[in-house]
Amino acid sequence: MEQYSFYIETYGCQMNVSDSEIVKSILLSDGMTAASLDDANIILLNTCSVRDNAEERVLNRIDTLHHILRKRKQNAVIGVIGCMAERLKDKLFDSLNAVSIVVGPDEYKKLPELARNALEGHNGLAIELSMEETYSDIIPARNSDMFAWVSIMRGCNNFCSYCVVPYTRGRERSRTVESILKEINLLKEENFKEVTLLGQNVNSYNDNGVRFPDLLRKIAEIIPEMRIRFVTSHPRDMSDALIETIAQYDNICNYIHLPLQSGSNRILKDMNRRYTVEHFFELIDKIRRLIPHCALSTDVIAGYPIETLEDHQATLDAMKHVRFDSAFMFKYSPREGTRAAKMNDEVPEEEKIRRLNEIIEQQNQISREKNEEEIGRIFEILVEAPSKKNVLEWAGRTDTNKLVIFNNKEKKYKQGDLIKIKVIRSTGATLFGEVINNN
Ligand code: 5AD
Ligand code: SF4
Repeated sequence: MEQYSFYIETYGCQMNVSDSEIVKSILLSDGMTAASLDDANIILLNTCSVRDNAEERVLNRIDTLHHILRKRKQNAVIGVIGCMAERLKDKLFDSLNAVSIVVGPDEYKKLPELARNALEGHNGLAIELSMEETYSDIIPARNSDMFAWVSIMRGCNNFCSYCVVPYTRGRERSRTVESILKEINLLKEENFKEVTLLGQNVNSYNDNGVRFPDLLRKIAEIIPEMRIRFVTSHPRDMSDALIETIAQYDNICNYIHLPLQSGSNRILKDMNRRYTVEHFFELIDKIRRLIPHCALSTDVIAGYPIETLEDHQATLDAMKHVRFDSAFMFKYSPREGTRAAKMNDEVPEEEKIRRLNEIIEQQNQISREKNEEEIGRIFEILVEAPSKKNVLEWAGRTDTNKLVIFNNKEKKYKQGDLIKIKVIRSTGATLFGEVINNN
């Protein structure tokens, strides 16, 4: 009998990281084993379609893997799962003739069968989107024993004009409170240190009238000793109740990711974001009033099809006004099937790049200044791992989601420890701290 072993590579957002743990669990429950790339005979790429360069990367990777596998004696297949599977469908079988499994985000339960068939030479396609599937019956096979992802809802109904997500991940659906709390209780028993609640738009969580702030409150009370994070919030339906809940519970991290996308009301309207920049500023004021020191990050898009220089300037101004701690900044990328992709794109490629660079430069300066303001402050950090540059130095995170590097030469501190540090130096991306207690 053929031995089935799998290897998963994950691209894109945190939802994909979480989904890969669900896929792993489904395959393990079927009796398959997890293996390295070299040993696995089922190689899965969990993919992202949000921008063209994310897809390019995966297509190149498939090409490389195809060459590697051709040289092998043992039979092995490549599967594409996630957003690219949903978007490109059976077209993926033709590309390079390398892919034999294509499975969209709502059909992962079919993977074991399709993978077995593929190893016997039959291509497998499963790309139905579902109104119900939330995988709440599956306990993810987690890759960490400290940090847990818990997806609380799937899909998106917002149809922002530029975004492919509603097409690749389907309609919004919430997991039941009961199933989420059950999973949270398991994490508590297993001594996890941090949980991140995931959804494309957590603010529209709704389980028979139980909304996101209610859910968050219940979770915060079950796990007072664990840190709680969540992504992503939509500025249109970020409620006062949510801000108050974050303020009220110490274990809910003082960090909010709130995508602005553009600082121009004309562009926001065209994007179908359904808020104004004034509303966004009001939210920020409320957050800062109720949660002093709350860190804020955002997403912005440069070079939207009808963006004028004036609109671009409005984005720069808005970002200067808010002074986000950090930002994810992207060049607009047309996605087939979306409304924006059908528009006449009036911004030349070089101009998009120029605008993006201008936004990045301004934000880098703000991030540097924001981090300088932290010098002298004391934070409790959750120790994560040795730093990438120097193994004697370790990294931990503040509850405001900032990375702090500290000296751990004597290996006194280990992953999962909560320690107090004082910030002594900073760059735009990182804080450097001195440990001030030894508990
Ligand atoms: N082009 C560029 N950026 C995009 N995003 C979503 N769609 C696109 C696109 N077509 C960005 C948005 C979103 C983040 C996850 O990706 O800023 O918040
Ligand atoms: Fe895309 Fe808008 Fe949904 Fe976010 S809220 S996933 S940007 S459609």
